[in-house]
Amino acid sequence: MRSFRFPFLFAMLVALPLTAQRGIPALRSPAPMMFSAGGGTIAAQAAAPTSTFQNVATMSQLMVEIIYPTSDDIFYIGRTPPESDLDWMRFQRTALTLAESGNLLMMPGRARDQGDWIKYSKMLVDVGAAAYKLGKAKDLDGILALNDQLYTACVTCHQQYRPGYGRRQLPTPAPR
Ligand code: HEC
Repeated sequence: MRSFRFPFLFAMLVALPLTAQRGIPALRSPAPMMFSAGGGTIAAQAAAPTSTFQNVATMSQLMVEIIYPTSDDIFYIGRTPPESDLDWMRFQRTALTLAESGNLLMMPGRARDQGDWIKYSKMLVDVGAAAYKLGKAKDLDGILALNDQLYTACVTCHQQYRPGYGRRQLPTPAPR
């Protein structure tokens, strides 16, 4: 297992950020040879010469299909607060999805730069992770208190990176 883990971490921590910074889409790390030692099929796939990431959604789809609905569930949790354990589990799932969607924004091919873009994406990760923890604790007030932080993440990034921000009519009162 060890021989598998290190190159994988290497690829994640070192190679990807480097290639992302240089704007090189393909990942060419020295990892493949090290993988063959004990990794098996999964390791071989992880060590493919190009980036293992396959961006499926466009930026717009990520926003509309994942980030917008999941953040709404946090913004508006006060309207129909979770009651049953199942409700809370659903909320946790939503919060975790939002948190991880921040990582999706930072992927090669999506990150617009390695500065403010990353900062704003990480804000989503942080709020989502906090909401997830609070969801586990069934802490409704704590989740409501995250509203400002979440709103700021959306708005600051949109002000800087979303074309035509503020000029379009908003169909719902959610922060855009
Ligand atoms: C790291 C930057 C970033 C963050 C954070 C971010 N967005 Fe976006 N968002 C964008 C960009 C860039 C676009 C424009 C995408 C396009 O049109 O290609 C966008 C567009 C959108 C759209 C319009 C999509 C469309 O095609 O109509 C919605 C809705 C949206 N964002 C919701 C949100 C919400 C809600 C949040 C916060 C919970 C959020 N976004 C956080 C960068 C971000």
